Order: sequence, then C-alpha cells, then structure tokens
Amino acid sequence: MSEHTDDRERDVVLELRDLHVEYPLDEGLVRAVRGASYKVYRDETLALVGESGCGKSQSSYAAIGLIQPPGRTRGQILFHDDRDNGGEPIDLLSFERNSRQMRSIRGGRIAMVFQEPMTALSPVHRIGQQIDEVLRLHTDLDKEARFTRACELLAQVGIPDAEQRYRQYSFEFSGGMRQRIMIAIALACRPAMLFADEPTTGLDVTIQAQILDLIADLQKQTKMAVVLITHDLAVVAENADRVAVMYLGRIVELADVKTIYLSPRHPYTIALMRSVIGSPLADDGRLATIRGTVPGPLEDVPGCPFHPRCEKAIPGVCNVRMPAFRPIDDKTTVACHLYGDGDGE
Ligand SMILES: Nc1ncnc2c1ncn2[C@@H]1O[C@H](COP(=O)(O)OP(=O)(O)O)[C@@H](O)[C@H]1O
Ligand SMILES: [Mg+2]
Repeated sequence: MSEHTDDRERDVVLELRDLHVEYPLDEGLVRAVRGASYKVYRDETLALVGESGCGKSQSSYAAIGLIQPPGRTRGQILFHDDRDNGGEPIDLLSFERNSRQMRSIRGGRIAMVFQEPMTALSPVHRIGQQIDEVLRLHTDLDKEARFTRACELLAQVGIPDAEQRYRQYSFEFSGGMRQRIMIAIALACRPAMLFADEPTTGLDVTIQAQILDLIADLQKQTKMAVVLITHDLAVVAENADRVAVMYLGRIVELADVKTIYLSPRHPYTIALMRSVIGSPLADDGRLATIRGTVPGPLEDVPGCPFHPRCEKAIPGVCNVRMPAFRPIDDKTTVACHLYGDGDGE
C-alpha cells in the first residue's frame, strides 16, 4: 500500500463490510440489504443513490441500531472513533439494538437526519426539551449550560429568536424549520458521522439548498463524515465528494462524483444519469426512463440482479453469475461483467 493510501485509511470513519439486513416474514425472507460494502472518510460526503427500495435507508439504520425485530443483520459495521477504544474500530453490529453502548453512540457520535421530521420529532414535547434531552444523554453539561447550548444550536441552524422558539412545539414550525431543528438535534453533540436520509425531500428548492448548505457549513467546522441519501442526482452533483450507487441491496458502483457524472460504468448508473436533466448523457433533454422495475424484495434474481433490465446483458454470463464488486481502474469500483471476469458469489 502506498503512503498516500495509508494516510487516507487513517481517516476512515465508518466501514460497512458485507452488510446484510433481512426480515423473515410469513411470506418469505425479505432481503433488504444483500452484502453492501463501503467506507466513508472524515470530512467527506458520500452520496448513496438508487431507486426507492434498494436498501439505502435500511443500510444506514443498521449503523445506529434501528433495525426492528424480526429484522436481523449480518456482516460488520466498523466505526473508527478515536475518542473511544484506543483507536481500534468497534463493530456496531456487535451491540444489542438498545444496549447502553448503542444508546451512547446513537445520537451522540453517530447521528441521523430523517426524511420526515414530523414523525421524528415528538409532538408533545417542546423543541427545546428535545434538544436538551440529547445534550443530557451525551454530554456532561449542566442545565444552564445545556440551555445556552440549545439556543446556540437553534441560532446556528438559522432559527431566529432562539430563546422564544425553544419553548414551542413542532407543529408551530414550517417544514423547513422542522428540518433545521432535526439538524440541530443531530449535530448537538458534534457527531463524527452523520447520516442524512433524504433530508430535503418534500421541501421547496430554495429551502432545500439552504438545508444542504447548512450541513456543509457544519461539516466544514467539525470535519464529520456525511452519508447523504438522496434520489435527487442534482443534489448529488452539488453536495457529494463520492457516490455509491445501490441496486437491490448492494453497492454496484462507487466513484468520485465527477467520474460518476462524466463516465459512469455500470449500465444501471448510466441509465440513472440519462434520466438527469442537463447530464451530458441525456439525449436532447429527452429524459430516459429505466425499463422494467426493481424486483420485489422477496424475489431472487439469478446472476447479476440488474440483468433483466440491462440493455447490455451478456446471455449465459449475466443471468448466471453474480459479478464481483471490484476496482476496474484507479477511479471506479463496479460490479459488472462488462468490465472483465471478476467472479462473484
Ligand atoms: N420493517 C421492514 N420489514 C420488511 N421489509 C422491510 C422493512 N423495512 C424495509 N423493508 C424492505 O427493505 C427494502 C429496502 O428498503 P429501504 O432501505 O427503505 O429502501 P430505500 O431507502 O432505498 O428506499 C425494501 O424492499 C423494503 O420494503
Ligand atoms: Mg429510504
């Protein structure tokens, strides 16, 4: 390994290794995540993209112990937090969902901004109390210091009259303001790792840009690693350093944002890019749709899971063998038989 790579490896904050999330249901086994692997580094934003249902949320919930029974996980989620454990990574999947360790990490060192702030915020507690609760759980601050910090946080996320707003309830805020409060709660303890799961879906474009700028500003200050989950590829272009494309529970392509836009390799990524307005791959503004649909979570597709929808599928290969996820040059890692004969499962 080169010196450069070693330096980079020191900055890994979170690493998924062959993560599986499954739900044994009466109808069969739902395989929500089917062997996802990625690393995310300090001070970077990794965008996780892919059609709805491909496991973006579930793979992130696993890291903060939010997979509810009968759901179960396999693989490893290694968290490198130099504040604990003498620099050794800890495997988050080794903790029980509601163990003391998981509760101390969730909302503290690893935080999440959810898609729907209305369900994530309590309707019966004042906003201030909800921020106070996080600070009480994760810091040694006394009551007065917590109040000061909560007001600072509200101001920091752009909520004016913080002391007055502290005493209000979530229904008294607009959608954009609620999302700001969620961010204040998520960032209250200066997490090393932030998952932002569709943080701006449903907000209008101006507010969307403000929220994403806010996350970027806070990232600049704290150097946190961010996993940004979004189906909006315009948001990705503006905000991500690297992009991981998910399909049916796996990462199928991973590269820096420029490479993903200018030379996507996986036929699925190419199809996604063709559907983006302004992409060099879109034909004259005519937006392509990807043929077919994502297989259901109970379905088991032999070979490459994308082959039934793939224009370039090689008969006898793609419908038979799963391609390995491997680097094909110094920029792109991809799981596709078109780029050589990496044997998969
Ligand atoms: N509690 C659950 N029980 C059974 N299946 C689930 C549950 N939660 C999610 N799934 C399934 O897991 C798959 C991945 O879901 P999700 O991670 O939410 O996708 P995404 O965030 O990419 O839209 C979907 O097929 C979904 O139906
Ligand atoms: Mg989701």
